[in-house]
Amino acid sequence: MALTFPMTPNPAPRADAERAEILSNPGFGQKFSDHMVVSIWREGSGWGDGEVKAYGPFQLDPAAAVLHYAQEIFEGMKAYRHEDGSVWTFRPEKNAARFNRSANRLALPEIDENDFVESLKALVKADESWVPAFDAGEASLYLRPFMFASEAFLGVRPSREVTYCVIASPAGAYFKGGVKPVSLWLSRDYSRAGVGGTGAAKCGGNYASSLAAQIEANERGCDQSVFLDSVEGKYVEELGGMNVFFVTKDGELVTPQLTGTILEGVTRDSILELAKDLGLTPVERRVTIEEWIEGCNDGTISEIFACGTAAVVTPVGRLVWTDGEVTSGPEGEAGPYATKIREALLAIQKGTAEDTRGWMTRL
Ligand code: COI
Repeated sequence: MALTFPMTPNPAPRADAERAEILSNPGFGQKFSDHMVVSIWREGSGWGDGEVKAYGPFQLDPAAAVLHYAQEIFEGMKAYRHEDGSVWTFRPEKNAARFNRSANRLALPEIDENDFVESLKALVKADESWVPAFDAGEASLYLRPFMFASEAFLGVRPSREVTYCVIASPAGAYFKGGVKPVSLWLSRDYSRAGVGGTGAAKCGGNYASSLAAQIEANERGCDQSVFLDSVEGKYVEELGGMNVFFVTKDGELVTPQLTGTILEGVTRDSILELAKDLGLTPVERRVTIEEWIEGCNDGTISEIFACGTAAVVTPVGRLVWTDGEVTSGPEGEAGPYATKIREALLAIQKGTAEDTRGWMTRL
């Protein structure tokens, strides 16, 4: 039976002036809207009805399994305001399907795809005033559905109580520099994921394991780290939280193929589709780090960019390793294809281009 998400309004929502101040410069992931969705699953009885209630801290037992064994998954999506004032999201069925694949990998319960989408609708209905205006550029309301083991129990087994929650956060550019090219640190000491591990799942543990490399990157003056495969340390996988693409001088758009250790990005999948509209040939294959370095040096690679829901399309300007570096794309700005792909994607999301593939869902 479909879940319902009845609403108990926040008795103390933020004043209009405070919300307007937040929306005028949202940054990424720092401020949160007035409500959240919560639903609890219990072994034997399944999902209980959800609720939309005031955003606020959970009361969590110190023995809650998630705090000890990291049984947790999440998604990242965005709500966009169109010119007529309506609010839409992008390919939510893809996120719902990935959420359930992640749930299976982390031994968490699945949630019906319709219930997942209804939970987003319920939250956006409650907090519609938090969706940035149509003319606020790429600003959107970032939606973060997540699920975690909330049973208080220290034995290692799948939790018998699980909490599903959706929160929302107004979002501008993910990186401080906006769409300026970012620099990447090549992590040689750390891998993000191993064969048979959780690399393809969107679980908190993958992001936790990227953080030591992120510290290295920041110490080297870089924005993000890039990971290689854990077996040979040879093939490019992904960044700490984004997929990566290479534009070749021959008009190919190349991205590392999905090997089970790479996140199946919804933005990644969409860009592979859009590439054809822009005259690029999409290619999914293994890419070696030598190829990256040589391609930048000999001009075979003309542009590199990273992508994800949060970062949209972000150009990569520099790759740095212990005793060297290479640059890619025009200095200090996005390359022509990164710009075109970013614009094409945002135009569909903001409703200024026709949605010929049926990617948008009204919230
Ligand atoms: C997203 O792009 O939505 C993610 O979940 C990645 C995270 C680094 C913000």
